[in-house]
Amino acid sequence: MRTIIEPFRIKSVEPIRMTSTEERKGILVRAGYNLFSIRAEDIIIDLLTDSGVAAMSAEQWAALMRGDESYAGSTSFGRFEAAVKRLMPFKHVIPTHQGRAAESILFALLGGADRLIPSNTHFDTTRANIEATGAIALDLLGAEADEPASDYPFKGNMDVERLEKLLAAEGNRIPCVMMTITNNAGGGQPASLANIKRVAALAHAHDKCFIIDGCRFAENAWFIKQREPGQGDRAVPDIVREIFACADGMTMSAKKDAFANIGGWLALNDDDLAERARTRLILTEGFPTYGGLAGRDLDAIAQGLSEIVDEDYLRYRVRVNEYVLERLIAAGVPVVRPAGGHAVFLDAGAMLPHIPALAYPGQALAVALYEEGGVRGCEIGSVMFGRQPDGGERAARLELVRLAMPRRVYTQSHADYVVETILAVHEKRKTLKGLRVVREPKALRHFTAIFAPLS
Ligand code: F0G
Repeated sequence: MRTIIEPFRIKSVEPIRMTSTEERKGILVRAGYNLFSIRAEDIIIDLLTDSGVAAMSAEQWAALMRGDESYAGSTSFGRFEAAVKRLMPFKHVIPTHQGRAAESILFALLGGADRLIPSNTHFDTTRANIEATGAIALDLLGAEADEPASDYPFKGNMDVERLEKLLAAEGNRIPCVMMTITNNAGGGQPASLANIKRVAALAHAHDKCFIIDGCRFAENAWFIKQREPGQGDRAVPDIVREIFACADGMTMSAKKDAFANIGGWLALNDDDLAERARTRLILTEGFPTYGGLAGRDLDAIAQGLSEIVDEDYLRYRVRVNEYVLERLIAAGVPVVRPAGGHAVFLDAGAMLPHIPALAYPGQALAVALYEEGGVRGCEIGSVMFGRQPDGGERAARLELVRLAMPRRVYTQSHADYVVETILAVHEKRKTLKGLRVVREPKALRHFTAIFAPLS
């Protein structure tokens, strides 16, 4: 069969409230043209994030009832720890309430003034947690990623030559090397197994630990199976285990590739580092067998981890993005190619060349998609990355709009509706205007900044 169907049936539904274009225009004014400030009930299709918005399975809901809320030594923790270790063979697994809590604990231990932490691309919370300690977060993404329109299969790869030079020149300032799989900020693009192993080997040759931000590990493993020579016959869980076996630790948001609505973890092999991490955990999150979560959340994650590596699910998951992308490419809409694991990325810089980077073409496009069809996406460009630690402003590498797909939530007709909305905005792209910032906070401005359209 050519049609790849959702490999699930729907048992429980949530209504979508329909709104008119006129209504949405008023909503945008009241939200200061920041889509984070719009109420969920005013959104028709919410593609702001794929984080914490998955539909849980019947088995996950059943697992919630098994949750053991004991303060210490909960049996839910045992099931959670075993599920993580089945895929990621780390010695210590430390639960946290979400991914950034794991980052905050890790970088409180490894960061500090003058340190350098290289990665393919740090996600914004990772970068912020590193910079909050006075350290510098460096992105060493391979040059292939600079060409949104090329179909290079592993645009999440680290530039190993630059990493090697950096380790040789600044090794004493580098506590660890990181990789984000898939590379969220760069288009949901995967890193190859060969690249991950090469980076691990380089880090280890310089006595540095290698840490993986594994938020979307299953999608990355699926791409390895699909795209990397020699990997096609392997089971996804085997690829996952090989990825993590070459790392010394990982940070994880269970809100992505664990089908959970909340949760995360920090995993480490080093006993001393793990002990210090657990001490910080007790200060900020909770006892090491619950780490800021309810026991039932740990059970939902444990069950989710067994479902996320299912190949029927992963095939459907990636196929939806490919389908949307194929239709956009056919209509000449500039996009990041190939399709990402968790999202479709529109190239707002290429679509709106008349809007300069610091008039925020990505934000302008995201606002237009909401006004046109009530579709909420997220700018990943100069609004998110433009403000520099020294207070200055600099254009981001790319001006993108991310349409992130919640896991198991929307159907094929929702995907068609999203395509129709994008095509309608693309038709009138020349009439779109840039925006200016009216007010913004000191850090992570994209969440709360207020904008006004330029006339
Ligand atoms: N790392 C990556 C690659 C992420 O995408 C995120 C979150 C985090 C870390 C932090 O995890 O939200 O559980 O604290 N990304 C979400 C997104 C917010 O929309 O992409 P968290």
